[in-house]
Amino acid sequence: MIATIDMEIQPMKKTFCLLLFLPMFYTTAHPLIYHHHHPTILTDKAALLAFKDTMTQDSQSILADWQNSSNVCNFTGVVCNHQHHRVVQLLLNRSGIHGPLSPFLANLTGLLLLDLSENNLVGLIPPELGSLWRLNELNLFGNLLHGLIPDSLSLLSGLFYLDLKGNRLTGTIPSSILYNCTSLGYVDFSENALHGEIPPEIGNHLSNLMFLQLYSNNLSGKLPPSLSNCTILKWLDVENNRLSGELPTETVSRLPLLELLLLSNNLFTSHDHNTNLAPFFKALSNCTHLQAIELAGMGLGGQLPTTIDQLGIYLSSIYLQDNRIFGSIPPTIVNLSNLTVLNLSSNLLNGKIPDEIGRLQNLQWLILSNNSLIGPIPPSIGQINLLNQLDLSKNRLSFEVPGSLGNLIFLSDLFLQENNLSGISPSIGRCKSLNRLDVSFNRLTAIPKEIFGLTHMGIFLNLSHNLINGTLPLELSKMETVQEIDLSSNHFHGSIFPQLVGCIAACMINFSHNLLEGKLPGTLGLLRNLESLDVSYNSLSGEIPVGLGGSVSLVLLNLSYNDFNGPIPTSGMFTNFTYLSFLGNPHICGSIPGVPVCMKRKRWLM
Ligand SMILES: *[C@@H]1O[C@H](CO)[C@@H](O)[C@H](O)[C@H]1NC(C)=O
Ligand SMILES: *[C@@H]1O[C@H](CO)[C@@H](O)[C@H](O)[C@H]1NC(C)=O
Ligand SMILES: *[C@@H]1O[C@H](CO)[C@@H](O)[C@H](O)[C@H]1NC(C)=O
Ligand SMILES: *[C@@H]1O[C@H](CO)[C@@H](O)[C@H](O)[C@H]1NC(C)=O
Ligand SMILES: *[C@@H]1O[C@H](CO)[C@@H](O)[C@H](O)[C@H]1NC(C)=O
Ligand SMILES: *[C@@H]1O[C@H](CO)[C@@H](O)[C@H](O)[C@H]1NC(C)=O
Ligand SMILES: *[C@@H]1O[C@H](CO)[C@@H](O)[C@H](O)[C@H]1NC(C)=O
Ligand SMILES: *[C@@H]1O[C@H](CO)[C@@H](O)[C@H](O)[C@H]1NC(C)=O
Ligand SMILES: *[C@@H]1O[C@H](CO)[C@@H](O)[C@H](O)[C@H]1NC(C)=O
Repeated sequence: MIATIDMEIQPMKKTFCLLLFLPMFYTTAHPLIYHHHHPTILTDKAALLAFKDTMTQDSQSILADWQNSSNVCNFTGVVCNHQHHRVVQLLLNRSGIHGPLSPFLANLTGLLLLDLSENNLVGLIPPELGSLWRLNELNLFGNLLHGLIPDSLSLLSGLFYLDLKGNRLTGTIPSSILYNCTSLGYVDFSENALHGEIPPEIGNHLSNLMFLQLYSNNLSGKLPPSLSNCTILKWLDVENNRLSGELPTETVSRLPLLELLLLSNNLFTSHDHNTNLAPFFKALSNCTHLQAIELAGMGLGGQLPTTIDQLGIYLSSIYLQDNRIFGSIPPTIVNLSNLTVLNLSSNLLNGKIPDEIGRLQNLQWLILSNNSLIGPIPPSIGQINLLNQLDLSKNRLSFEVPGSLGNLIFLSDLFLQENNLSGISPSIGRCKSLNRLDVSFNRLTAIPKEIFGLTHMGIFLNLSHNLINGTLPLELSKMETVQEIDLSSNHFHGSIFPQLVGCIAACMINFSHNLLEGKLPGTLGLLRNLESLDVSYNSLSGEIPVGLGGSVSLVLLNLSYNDFNGPIPTSGMFTNFTYLSFLGNPHICGSIPGVPVCMKRKRWLM
């Protein structure tokens, strides 16, 4: 009895569902090129098997469970609707398939979602895909597709998500797609080779657009003013193109939900013939959700307005490097309390770094290099607990590197080269995460031995081109992980100690242009990673140690302009060096062309 009722109810449910779906599945109202007579799950299966057949052998084994004998709804990557009437999703993201994107897929007319991203699909995007009229999402990102973006995609009127990023597509952006697919919310054509203009009326048609990504193409012309009609736009990324014109002040002021505004590496100019940034920044203050602003690499002229702090509480990164921004850094910038990245490098900034900069408590990257900043490094920087990279190189900063920086336990890179710094606090030796320390080309006269206590430094220590006077500190030998040590062009004197072999990770050591004397320790040949050893322009003497030839990794050896004597060893790596490694040592001899031949012992005996 119960069973009978069930049987009666089931078909009713089915009919009900069919009624719901029928108009969508079987309507012939859609203005379509291909009139499939009653496309069914069998049509879908045939299409998928035909798609599989076009793939390489490897790919076919990835799709091994796509068998004529199995149910298509059980194929890997295939999702059917509840009734198993049609295939509604094909999801093969990063599945390793390789072959053409075959037009057979166009027979899957029930598809809502087609995701073949991050594979090795080759060939053209088949225009036939325009028959997938129910598609909401088309994702072909990260393949090797070339040729034009077919106009026929403009037939996908329900499309919300369109991602063609990272292929080899050429031609222009078809305006028909952006004008007809009015449901589009996500559009990504980045990292292709598209040229021409961004279709100017884009904004008049795509009122639902939230994400527009067109970066790394060859697009030119202006950013369409119509974008100001995309009032819910959140991401606008057009970096690395050839777009020109004044910064889109009007447009951004009408995009209150904008989160990412990425315009770097185009040909935009600021107002008043590239001299005035104020109107643009004022307009940006209407974008109260702004998280990132990138305007780098355009030679933009103007000053940073003092109202920069009105860019909003969500602002996390500012990239303004490689421009022609002049004047001083406005102290109000420290009110942007959520900043994690501030990059103002390679501009024409002058004046002092604001004393209050330490209030930017969330900063991780502070990059102000290659400007004309003067004065001291503000001690308050030592309060920026999360700081990871501090780059103040190529400015005119003076005084001592403040001890407060020693509080920066996460600091990995400290770049202070090419300034007028006269000292460095021993506290810097407490920055236990430091991997790169560059204080070269300054006016340091001494170096606290604590700096060599950075025993976990991973990458390099560069103190070259200073006025450092003193012996090489023995602590140096405890730097077991540093790869490059450059102490060249200073006034280091005394000898090179054998314990230097403790710098076991060293691949580059440069002690040239100092006043070092005594013998070169043969133990250096035990440095298994050493590729380059330059001790030229010192006063080293004695015989060239045979042990050095044991360093199998050594590619460059420079012992020039010292006072070594005796024969150049002939063993190991020494066979590979030319006279250029031994210039200006009048008392050496050897069998290398260009070096005086040693007098044979036999002759002495005769
Ligand atoms: C695709 O559909 C067309 C029209 O229904 C049909 O002629 C063709 O055989 C189908 N191809 C495949 C591979 O399913
Ligand atoms: C699909 O696969 C599942 C488990 O792999 C199996 O139980 C089921 O019978 C299959 N369905 C069809 C219709 O083949
Ligand atoms: C786009 O839609 C317009 C009508 O709004 C129509 O005239 C045009 O043919 C469509 N273009 C394409 C390529 O579908
Ligand atoms: C916004 O859209 C309307 C209607 O399509 C259009 O008239 C207007 O010019 C557009 N605004 C801009 C700035 O293009
Ligand atoms: C920008 O915001 C100000 C108020 O902060 C408002 O007066 C102005 O109309 C806004 N601009 C636009 C274009 O919406
Ligand atoms: C300092 O040395 C490091 C490591 O060898 C190097 O990468 C860097 O460019 C040097 N700095 C300057 C200013 O030459
Ligand atoms: C070592 O430093 C000197 C001066 O600083 C420089 O001229 C030379 O090229 C450097 N040697 C190597 C191998 O980099
Ligand atoms: C000398 O250099 C060559 C290549 O530059 C290298 O293959 C060879 O192993 C080196 N000689 C020795 C003794 O390591
Ligand atoms: C060693 O340094 C001298 C002086 O700078 C230079 O002329 C010579 O070419 C260098 N030798 C090698 C092998 O780099």
